[in-house]
Parts: sequence; structure tokens; C-alpha cells
Amino acid sequence: MKATVEERVEALLSAMTLAEKVGQMTLAEKNSIRPGDTARFALGGVLSGGGGYPIPNTPRSWADMVAGFQDEALATRLRIPILYGVDAVHGHAAVEGATVFPHNCGLGAAGDPDLAYRIARATAVEMAATGTSWNYAPTVAVPHDLRWGRTYECFGADPDLVSRLGVAYVRGLQGADLASPTSVLATPKHFVGDGAARWGTSTTVMQGRRFLIDQGDADLDEAALRSIHLRPYRAAIGSGARCIMVSFSSWHGVKMHAHRRLLTDVLKGELGFRGFLVSDWGGIDQLPGDYHAQVVASLNAGLDMIMVPYDYRRFVETALQAVQAGDVPLARVDDAVRRILNAKLARGLFEHPLPQRDLLAEVGCQEHRALAREAVRRSLCLLKNAGALPLPKDVPLVLVAGEAADDLGIQCGGWTIEWQGKKGPIVPGTTIRAGIENVLGPARVAFDPNGRFAGVGRAPVGIVVLGEEPYAEGFGDKPDLVLTEEEISLVRSVRAVVDRLVLVVVSGRPYVLGEAYDLADAVVAAWLPGSEGAGVADVLFGDAPFEGRLPFPWPRSSAYLTRPEAEPPLFPPGFGLVRG
Ligand code: GLC
Repeated sequence: MKATVEERVEALLSAMTLAEKVGQMTLAEKNSIRPGDTARFALGGVLSGGGGYPIPNTPRSWADMVAGFQDEALATRLRIPILYGVDAVHGHAAVEGATVFPHNCGLGAAGDPDLAYRIARATAVEMAATGTSWNYAPTVAVPHDLRWGRTYECFGADPDLVSRLGVAYVRGLQGADLASPTSVLATPKHFVGDGAARWGTSTTVMQGRRFLIDQGDADLDEAALRSIHLRPYRAAIGSGARCIMVSFSSWHGVKMHAHRRLLTDVLKGELGFRGFLVSDWGGIDQLPGDYHAQVVASLNAGLDMIMVPYDYRRFVETALQAVQAGDVPLARVDDAVRRILNAKLARGLFEHPLPQRDLLAEVGCQEHRALAREAVRRSLCLLKNAGALPLPKDVPLVLVAGEAADDLGIQCGGWTIEWQGKKGPIVPGTTIRAGIENVLGPARVAFDPNGRFAGVGRAPVGIVVLGEEPYAEGFGDKPDLVLTEEEISLVRSVRAVVDRLVLVVVSGRPYVLGEAYDLADAVVAAWLPGSEGAGVADVLFGDAPFEGRLPFPWPRSSAYLTRPEAEPPLFPPGFGLVRG
């Protein structure tokens, strides 16, 4: 008779030393681990943070890297495999050549759980090829302030939409059978109320930059916290999530990483969450007191695995001292290790801990790119159309302007190869410009990033693409979401020489468009489409309809950003013209 998961957990737990138990609760960043330490400390998890790719950054070298850590873990006394974690938040986008899907804001605009499921499934397959068995996704935050640098990681501002898509994404990552070799652990994040932080309350300074709202403090009442921000977690638990990541943010001044009532009484008790809680990157270091106090507070609050991520030796030593001193009960350690082992066994990690190298050809495959292109098409929101769209395919000449029209890094956004993302040809794919040229042929497309078409003369159509520079987390906290004077003058200059002007906005959140909106005959929100920018041209030229609906309110002016109650948005969530 095959032992049950519970029986296997108890058998392992009873055989483990305290040091092996604390090792399981330790998650370290791969560049910080000395050779042999994965085994020596019996680490429970290893991660690649943003930009944590091997050199060369290929699917195969990812598989070799992960296998190296796993081989060490499998050589330990109890042969407990590690979970290898990565932020594959819009495809396995840390890997060069992987399919880069639209960020969650675009999936929210498409609003289709089946699409989200299929994208998560494709992402899981590309991850399984590299042996990364744990995805720090989906974000199920509900952002209330569009100025937040993580808005683009969110499905939208409606908790029901976020819950529906979050459930679909978890199910897609974990598959029909979590024990399958092509399943990965999902990690709904960041618990709880990361999207409710108030502007100006962040105290985080990173690389000399003061965050403004990311990791800040939320002051809403408990009823609102539950009805808006807890709701997606209740749904995610119901969909089988085995891990949840805790937020850097705080609620009424108490950091989530030490919030025992919400982590243990509410999440694990009231909601019955039986998986494990993982800290965010060095999240416990933000707690009051010395490191001993931080370890004690976080573990006793209910955190089960600590993303240290660098000095894992100090964490292990401190946690052992805390247990031996009675500051952290052994029962708390056993509960944490049970949860971690349960997730590993349920994931089938003991049966297939290594990369599924036969799937390496799936990384960035045409089928996944076609899926990404479908998602791009279905994410586009048509905000204005004074008879300009769809564009005729026999148009003799189209002027295309704006650096964002021809930049894969801009259209992919953050969490792409690099943590913050990066402008330029950072991944293989098609830019928006390339998509237009595929439809018309290069001869009928004149491109200039600065909109300088001297000598070209008038043209029947102009397409201006404006975009955000890539960013991630608090580096994207932005006091005002308005176009620059340079961007508006670009729109003016193209307006002057074309009969029909189409404005495409590539961004992780809505922007106040002002005069640019008035000057354009058509306005399209394209969000952060990822590697398959050709999907934009598909819709502009009528090969697919506009079906996207705004996942966020679209501000009329800057005043809306600071005092949304002062004026109605230009367009409410759910808005989207259908005629293309
Ligand atoms: C980051 C993010 C979190 C991510 C983690 C690992 O700081 O807050 O979303 O999963 O660290 O990269």
C-alpha cells in the first residue's frame, strides 16, 4: 500500500534533526550559496531573483544551473529536494528565448480566465524544462492608486476580476495534476493589502531611491481589507494554492511579516490555508529589533520559509538559537516544515526533482508565441475611434513614430531578463513596428522614433506609439501619470502631416493623455504586450476585433490620481469600444 503524503511527511519529520528542519525553512538566492552549502545546510529552497540568470542565459544553462543545486540536495541524508523559485510573472521571462506574455494588466483587460489559464499552463511547461518548480506568481493585489509601480503586475482594480483570473492562473501553473512533471507551485502574492498602501507612506530606500507607495502602509478598515484584498486569497486557496508570499507592506503600522493575527489566525486558521507562507526578499529585515528579534517575530507570526536571501548561514544559526532558547517553539518549526514538505510531496518533487530536458524545445515555441499574440490582440482597449480604425491594408503609406513602436524592452516592461527590464532588443520577438511592416511591407512604412518625416510629405495614416520606460516595484512609483512635453510635441508633429492619426499607449497603467487624446483620431491602450507585438497590428488592420475592457479607471486629469472622489475618471473600469 503506497504511503500517503501525510504519512511520508510525518516519516521525514520524525527523522529530521533540528538543523535539517531549520534548513528546510531557508530560501537562499543562488549567487550567494557557496558550493556544498545547499547540502551542508539542507536548504529548503533556492531562487533566482529578478535578473538571476546563468551565463549564458539559455534554457539549457538554466537547466544545468538548477540541476546543480538539486543534485546537491538529493545527495543529503534524507534526499529532500529543493524548490527552485523564479518570478515567471509574464512567462519565464528571465530566460532569453522564452515566450514573454502580456503582463497581468493586459490579461485583466482581456478578462478571460481561460486565456489566463492557458498562458499559465504554457509558462509552467517552459519552467519545467529548466527545472524551476516554483513560480512567484500570480500577483493578486488590488491596486487602489495607479501611481504604484506594481500596478502592471495586477489583473485590475476589481477584486472579483482579480479573484477569477488569479484562480485561473493558479490552476494553469499547477495543472490538472500538481504531481505532474509539467506542474509548478503557484504563489499568490503579496499577502495582504499590498495594493492598499497609501501614497507617501513607504519607508523603503533601495539603491538610493526612496519608494513612495510600494511597501507602504495601508490604513483601511478591516471590513474593506477583507472584502477587497483578502477576497482573491480566499479564492486562490480554494483553487489549490500551496504557497502564499507575504507582503512587505504594513496595515495600521504593523508589518505583514510580523502580523500574527492575519498570517496565522486569519489565513491559516479562519481561511484554512494548509500550504506554506514564504517571506518576501529580505522582508524580515524590515521588522523592528535585531536579527534575532526579526527571526522570532516572523516565525512566530506564521512565516514558514524565509527568503533570506543572502546570509543564509546567519539565518540558520539565529533560528537554531531562537528554538534552543525557547523563543520559537519547536511545534512552530514542525508546523512550518510539515507545510513545506507537504507542498514538495504534493508537487511530486521527490519523484521528478530535475529539469524536464525533453521540454527544452517548448521554451519560446511557436505555439506559445501564437498564444501570446492572441493575448496581445485580446488585451487591446479602444478608447477613441473617430472613423480611423480599422486601417485599410491598401493604404499607400503609414508613418510610424515613437521609440516605443520599435523597442521590445519597452513593450515587455519589468521582470524581463533583468529585474527592472531594459530598453532595446532584449528578447527575440516582434515589435509593434515589425507587426505593421508584416502587414504592409516595409516599403509602405516610414519609421522615425522622433517623428521626423521631412521629405516624406503628407501621409494618409500616422501611428504614434508612446511608452513607459521599463521598471519594477517601487522604482515605478510615479507622482504623476502625464505625458511629457516631448511626447505631446511628437503627437503634434505627426498630426500635422497625416490625415488619420492613431495613438497607441504602451504602459503598465493608464496615463493622463490630455491634448494627445484630442489630437488623435483613435486611441488604443496596449498595456505591456510582451514579445509578440505583432498582435497590435492584427487589430489595427482589422484582422481581429477590439475586445479589451479597461481593468482600471482611466484618469481624466492628474487631480484624479490624488483625489479620485473629486472628479469622475475619463473612462470607468470595464470601458472599451468594440468597433475596430
Ligand atoms: C521581490 C518582489 C517579489 C518577488 C521576490 C523574489 O522583491 O517583491 O514579488 O517574488 O522579490 O524575486
